Amino acid sequence: MYSLEKTQDLIAEAVRNLKFNNEPAELYEPIHYVLSSGGKRIRPVMTVMSANLFTENIREVIKPALGLEIFHNFTLLHDDIMDEADLRRNLPTVHKKWDQNVAILSGDVMAILAYEYITSCSREKLPEVIRVFNTTARQVCEGQQYDMNFETKQRVTVEEYLKMIEMKTSVLLAGCMEIGAIIGGAGEKDAKLLSAFGRDIGMAFQIQDDLLDTFGDQEVFGKEIGGDIVANKKTYLLIKAMENANGEQRAALKKLFSEKPDNPEKKILATKEIFNEMKIEDMTRELALKYYKDANKSLEKVNVPEIKKEGLVHLANLLLSRNK
Ligand code: IPE
Ligand code: IPE
Ligand code: MG
Ligand code: MG
Ligand code: MG
Repeated sequence: MYSLEKTQDLIAEAVRNLKFNNEPAELYEPIHYVLSSGGKRIRPVMTVMSANLFTENIREVIKPALGLEIFHNFTLLHDDIMDEADLRRNLPTVHKKWDQNVAILSGDVMAILAYEYITSCSREKLPEVIRVFNTTARQVCEGQQYDMNFETKQRVTVEEYLKMIEMKTSVLLAGCMEIGAIIGGAGEKDAKLLSAFGRDIGMAFQIQDDLLDTFGDQEVFGKEIGGDIVANKKTYLLIKAMENANGEQRAALKKLFSEKPDNPEKKILATKEIFNEMKIEDMTRELALKYYKDANKSLEKVNVPEIKKEGLVHLANLLLSRNK
């Protein structure tokens, strides 16, 4: 059994050893840049830990796990264009350092590389792995489109928000857990329970990401604070604030979120002030906690000795209190 730390080390080393073509430089340099810029690597770590619940031979799962991390990083390249984000992992984003076309095409080739790595599993597991990955990848795009649509949609319900984050973020964590389980040799029931664990961890993870986007520390978080507010993102924070606002607060929020701001800093400050008046931070943490508990309930039902689940429990705990 590999501990969380040991699995993290294994993945860190495997990512460091990734080698792709060098030419043309504009295509491949951004890939090396983004993959060596840090990141928590939770997706490949979850993939390997899921497999490791069922097998000690984790060699077969390393390449697919790397493929899932490459896929994640590909989505970040395109997401940063869509969100007009200039900073990630405390470094300029690819479209800022190079340009948009470079970020689009490097992202495209990363999606292909992701496939190459993810499909490097045994023939017998391949159809199932591809099936899960294809569904996952398509849903991520669907979630991303909803996220963009919501920027200009006045009223977004909590239910719509939850569906959107489930698709843009949670399904990938669910997919990592399920693909890991399949390659590790889990039965269908356990694979589905682990998928549910990943999905609920993913929900808590995105809710926490929304919280940090407004209330985090930029140096630690590595992304520009307030980006969601500036882009009129319909986060849980904003939806809850609209739900709980008095007449004056509602009018102020409506005005703030009706257009792209002339003065972004002012909009961020004014929004935060209203969020603080309503204790939105506490409400948001509560929802993340609910998903975290649901995740643990699924993990409890997985049919392997409790001691083997300790690494995943540990990881979930760390994620819940993360600030980056
Ligand atoms: C960022 O994911 C995108 C979201 C789904 C919120 P991570 O927070 O896992 O990003 P890195 O890889 O650790 O930088
Ligand atoms: C991330 O959503 C979803 C995907 C990248 C698919 P965000 O837009 O909130 O992620 P960050 O905050 O830029 O990392
Ligand atoms: Mg986005
Ligand atoms: Mg973004
Ligand atoms: Mg975010």
